Amino acid sequence: MKDKSQDQSPWPQLHQWRQDAEEQIPKYSDAATLATVDPQGKPHSRVILVRWIREPYLYFFTNFESPKAQHILANPNVSLNFYFKEFDRQLRVSGICMKASPEESNEYWGGRSRMKQIHALASKQSSVCTREEFDLKVFKFQKMYSDSQKPIPRPDNWGGFKVAPHTFEFWTEAEARSHKREQYKKNDQRWAVETLAP
Ligand SMILES: Cc1cc2nc3c(=O)[nH]c(=O)nc-3n(C[C@H](O)[C@H](O)[C@H](O)COP(=O)(O)O)c2cc1C
Repeated sequence: MKDKSQDQSPWPQLHQWRQDAEEQIPKYSDAATLATVDPQGKPHSRVILVRWIREPYLYFFTNFESPKAQHILANPNVSLNFYFKEFDRQLRVSGICMKASPEESNEYWGGRSRMKQIHALASKQSSVCTREEFDLKVFKFQKMYSDSQKPIPRPDNWGGFKVAPHTFEFWTEAEARSHKREQYKKNDQRWAVETLAP
């Protein structure tokens, strides 16, 4: 379908959908499926939380030694998929992923509860580990940081990634599968929008 207009930023619509989700979805309104590709070219997906939308990036936080982080560091092409069931909406985002700055990761880490910080310290994410082994590590870090006045420093292997999108697709359900689809693509710092067939 042809319906192309230049210089239309997708960000206002992204912020609007984010606000709608925050207002109406009680839990995990920021959950998205993150797809990465491993060095053998095989795709992997898992749910993460997109905690910040700070133009021009979408941020999530994770373990830098996890499989997803290893994929991203070898191949920064990622996609995110949000499904807002309550609104019959899907948002697809493709972009280039990079590490957030240490300052950004520190800011997010500092806003987490001590227990979440301790669990992040204790978890070698996605390694094989029994519950007993994990609980033992948690106990060890709880003892190490038993003084609640003492801040827990962010470990080097934990922090943020930020996605710089080059493509957005806003999908809205419509009657008898006549869904509305708007695709924004970035070229030379300019956004163009097109309507796609349902
Ligand atoms: C609702 C939900 C939210 C999640 N949020 C995150 C997150 O923000 N960061 C994260 O590292 N894992 C998150 N996870 C866990 C991931 O889905 C995944 O199990 C983990 O990150 C390991 O992925 P990997 O082995 O591909 O690196 C979440 C899972 C669910 C179901």
